[in-house]
Amino acid sequence: MRHRARHARLLIAAWLCLFVGAVPARDTADAAPSAAVASAHPLATAAGREILDAGGNAFDAAIAVAAALAVVEPYSSGIGGGGFFLLHRAADDHDVMIDAREMAPGEATRDMYLDANGEPVRGRSMNGALAAGIPGTPAGLVHLAEHYGRLPLATSLAPAIRHARDGFVVTPHYRIMAGFRTDAMNANAETARIFLAHGAPPADGTIVKQPDLAATLARLAAYGRDGFYAGPLAARLVAGVRAGGGIWQLDDLARYRVVERAPVVGHYRDIRIVSAPPPSSGGIVLIEALNILEGVDLAGADRVQRTHFVIEAMRRAYRDRAEYLGDPAFTDVPVARLTSKTHAQAIAADLSPARATPSTALKPVAPPAQGDHTTHFSVLDTAGNRVAATLSVNFPFGCAFTPPGTGVLLNNEMDDFSSKVMTPNGYGLVGADANAIAPYKRPLSSMTPSFLETPERIGILGTPGGSRIISMVLLGTLSFAAGEPVERWVATPRYHHQYLPDEVLFEPDAFDAPLRSALEARGHRLTLSNRDYGNMHAILWDQRTHTVTAASDPRGEGEADVWVPAVRTVTPRAD
Ligand code: GLY
Repeated sequence: MRHRARHARLLIAAWLCLFVGAVPARDTADAAPSAAVASAHPLATAAGREILDAGGNAFDAAIAVAAALAVVEPYSSGIGGGGFFLLHRAADDHDVMIDAREMAPGEATRDMYLDANGEPVRGRSMNGALAAGIPGTPAGLVHLAEHYGRLPLATSLAPAIRHARDGFVVTPHYRIMAGFRTDAMNANAETARIFLAHGAPPADGTIVKQPDLAATLARLAAYGRDGFYAGPLAARLVAGVRAGGGIWQLDDLARYRVVERAPVVGHYRDIRIVSAPPPSSGGIVLIEALNILEGVDLAGADRVQRTHFVIEAMRRAYRDRAEYLGDPAFTDVPVARLTSKTHAQAIAADLSPARATPSTALKPVAPPAQGDHTTHFSVLDTAGNRVAATLSVNFPFGCAFTPPGTGVLLNNEMDDFSSKVMTPNGYGLVGADANAIAPYKRPLSSMTPSFLETPERIGILGTPGGSRIISMVLLGTLSFAAGEPVERWVATPRYHHQYLPDEVLFEPDAFDAPLRSALEARGHRLTLSNRDYGNMHAILWDQRTHTVTAASDPRGEGEADVWVPAVRTVTPRAD
């Protein structure tokens, strides 16, 4: 219904363009009743609200949220990292993904993390300056402001600069993340000085101030991309990285560019899915798994049968991910085939409804490595513009290296490459050739910022969680498909299968004892996760009830906010 109305409007718009020669204004049918922001930190959500209240649109708010997260959630993302911004511009129904993924430096080599015997050196792709890819997030923020936002970059960055200068409060989650990475952080005096207290995670309530980062963000605000990728800051970044054993050159920073990519689009029942294309594997695996599930009788399935089907769909979609996916500038990714119904039908026809298929029984291939810590946020403005953004520094606190005087904590996204084909990385995962290291290549990602659209409902969602991101977004999508409220998408107990290792990882609440026994009887190997995982932040715009709701994952410390801004972001009517 909504799709048909939208198409009619676009036809009229095209007709007006031909005859009037101008971009027509759009009617207000797609105006949202409220704005919403859901992110992993209350200060970041508040930054988005501040910018929307100041007359910014969802894209300006995304800059504010991303930059604030870079300051107050340094273990998850940062301007030393990268990520993907999935955008929907309501005025012309334009969907696009801003690929701000990190890039391997020019001196990177396929074997750079191997020793003289060709074996991976533990930690080399994870800790220290050699582990860092060329950051993409600063370029992404500038691109958003220049091409999609309404406000000056300086305005959208102001909340983040304030939090960097004045400080933010250490929380229990910060302490846990810093606890994971204390040794690596202590290996770099600058990182330890900023983020630790006497070499240990600071006490709850400690104020962390980052004046160097405030100055770096102010440079970005003043000079745009040249404020980061050229000039004195670039010189300081490169000097710091090289002094720390890394291989960055000024030319690597100068040549970094974001890429505008067409999202992958699929359909599951009446839901249109818009998600992240390569170099993320997220959208393809999500759509492939949903296509497989469309080919089995999920509606008529009981709880055991349904869980079995979902696990088997995950297994097969993750297998294809391992074989085919990498940076599309270096690898031919058969996107159309992998997301086609015919491909999924062939897989579904081969799927036993009663028994787990051992992964070794599928055509062999090895899955690529993925990191574990990242952030996601969702934004909706009152014009109906949307952002789903998933951003990362990879491991908590990235590579734990900060070039002195910059405040830029660097990523270790280089570990998302396969350091050595078929050899496990720090997460025990192994990788395929399509994702081998090469100069200027972008490492394969699992980040899955997504939009879900039916004629009557719009969903915006995503989560951190390494390779488990995709299975979490899949479960969130099934929750959306079942008509559940947004609070349920983010809270639903999780389980995950990624082809190899051949096991189902599950949160304690996901499977009760009878379900466990039934799945084991079908041949599934179950592994209880030692902690809850994921941190999903989602928005639902229900056009039947004309309501917007939003939710932050109860596993995290995030906050979701829905309100009517003083200044509505609405484009005028054409008539
Ligand atoms: N570093 C996490 C991902 O890109 O999937």
